[in-house]
Amino acid sequence: MVGTSTELFDFIAAELERFVETEGDDFHLPEGRHRELGFTFSFPVGEDVVAELSSAMERQGLDMKVTALVNDTVGTLAGGIYADNDVVAAVILGTGTNAAYVEHVDAIPKWKGPLPRSGNMVINMEWGNFKSDKLPRSDYDIALDFESLNPGEQMYEKMISGMYLGEVVRRILLRLAHDASLFGDVVPSKLEKLFVLRTPDMSAMHHDTSHDLKHLGAKLKDILGVADTSMEARYITLHVCDKVAERGARLAAAGIYGILKKLGRDRAPSGGCPKQRTVVAIDGGLYEHYKKFSSRVEATLAELLGEAAASSVVVKMANDGSGIGAALLAASHSQYNVVE
Ligand code: BGC
Repeated sequence: MVGTSTELFDFIAAELERFVETEGDDFHLPEGRHRELGFTFSFPVGEDVVAELSSAMERQGLDMKVTALVNDTVGTLAGGIYADNDVVAAVILGTGTNAAYVEHVDAIPKWKGPLPRSGNMVINMEWGNFKSDKLPRSDYDIALDFESLNPGEQMYEKMISGMYLGEVVRRILLRLAHDASLFGDVVPSKLEKLFVLRTPDMSAMHHDTSHDLKHLGAKLKDILGVADTSMEARYITLHVCDKVAERGARLAAAGIYGILKKLGRDRAPSGGCPKQRTVVAIDGGLYEHYKKFSSRVEATLAELLGEAAASSVVVKMANDGSGIGAALLAASHSQYNVVE
């Protein structure tokens, strides 16, 4: 998070070198070929990341070439379809959020290039950047956006993803501390600090099932330095976590439902293909670790689809799906080159 991009790419190249060192003696590269690498990189850095990684690999003396660069959603989609042919969309719910799905080319008026033979293209939606008057924003969202690194951008992401949920909670608690003395007469100074409340801490507080919310109380002490919190303050904090997570989860489910609707998979399978399954592959730490969030996503999706349609839709965790998908794309590209 704090290093330079050269340090980052040098680190990746060094790790790749370590991996290559583990190759057995029976591994031989065919004449005239390099090791081929699939690379998932999902954050804009204003640089050509393939060129950056290639130079780092050269500095390392590594005989390897990047042949597939993909966004994490596209990698998850590729890995997801490889593992299960019924995957129609991939969603990332982690530090950031985004989705990808396969679309017919004739539904993509923007595309002016050569048409793929399959008649389909993958759409990386960049849905985190969705904004609309129909997406109501609270004062907290507006202030968070204003003070963020990318004001005016990624509005939907700022209501849903792991980078921001804890920060929304912090802002609400701060207001309650000021206006309603939530933590006593003094507003804890640490609560003023941007991003001091991380989403994993919010999740830990939210999952506290002890009768006196002692774990939540301990977190508040750890993070905010508030020694003694009243039961009322703990319950209110729990409720705030619940509402912020619920809003994020319901918004994420609405996005998934939107894709299914676009693909005509929001209805119960018709008589023609009663066995049709629809699978959505999901990756990301938020979804994986924040159980009250992920169960809310699934419950809302079922609610939106209705019972009949929901029975044919499966949401599947695709652990490290994006890296595996990128590797598979590089592998299939290498096969294609051989045939050529
Ligand atoms: C990025 C997307 C990425 C998503 C999930 C967002 O912040 O803009 O490209 O797919 O995070 O990692």
